[in-house]
Amino acid sequence: MKKTTLIKEGKAKRLYNTDEKDLVWVEYMDQATALNGKRKDHIAGKGELNNQIDCILFEQLVAKGIHTDFVQKLSNNEQLNRKVKIIPLEVVVRNAASGSFQRKFDVSYLQAFDQPVVEFFYKSDELDDPFINTNQAIALKIIDLEESQRLEKMALEINQILKERFAKAHLQLVDFKVEFGKTADDEIVLADEISPDSCRLVDLTTKESLDKDVFRKKTGDLVTVYQEVLNRLNNSQEEVHV
Ligand SMILES: Nc1ncnc2c1ncn2[C@@H]1O[C@H](COP(=O)(O)OP(=O)(O)OP(=O)(O)O)[C@@H](O)[C@H]1O
Ligand SMILES: [Mg+2]
Repeated sequence: MKKTTLIKEGKAKRLYNTDEKDLVWVEYMDQATALNGKRKDHIAGKGELNNQIDCILFEQLVAKGIHTDFVQKLSNNEQLNRKVKIIPLEVVVRNAASGSFQRKFDVSYLQAFDQPVVEFFYKSDELDDPFINTNQAIALKIIDLEESQRLEKMALEINQILKERFAKAHLQLVDFKVEFGKTADDEIVLADEISPDSCRLVDLTTKESLDKDVFRKKTGDLVTVYQEVLNRLNNSQEEVHV
């Protein structure tokens, strides 16, 4: 397997074509951004940490039956994925109040919900990724009703698996964002990445943040915190039979 042409350089990853047309080579970069890319820092080691964390989580999801774009880890900062057409929605699942939900409804930090909340945001740089409800997404032909139900169901299943996996690492999964894509044969699969860039994680006991919030709020060292997440996941490794 060889990487060939660059398809896209995003804020966190570079995607390359490979000599197999349905596969993409993904390189995680040493870059962190906040405020939708307006703040951008080089952070040595971040790419390797996020790729390793993402591989552990995707391997766990695959083992539990979730269909994903994940194929294999290639190196500490590279992995091979199935090439998909990304559905332009950020699917957010929340188990407790934080971030935009906490601000919007003026509720207390980490207020627990009786059941998880699923939200969609429209992936549009020009519009600043606005909140979008199901009917709006259907009207804009981003998805149809059946697909919206599928996304919500998959998001909740993913939440359950991740919540349990993180709990083994003594971490509470407060919320997270995922993206889905369609494969060449039109199957919806989980795609993109799951890492402390896209999850809110707090220590189960102390409620200390172990995610990108330390970078956004400048309250801690990103590499130290992401390394801690990776160590905890490695030290609570489950038997994975794929
Ligand atoms: N398996 C895949 N096939 C095709 N594209 C993918 C796949 N996985 C992720 N992508 C896309 O790769 C791009 C690069 O990822 P990165 O996270 O760096 O982007 P980003 O800066 O967050 O940009 P965006 O706003 O497009 O999400 C993103 O557009 C992402 O949606
Ligand atoms: Mg991204």
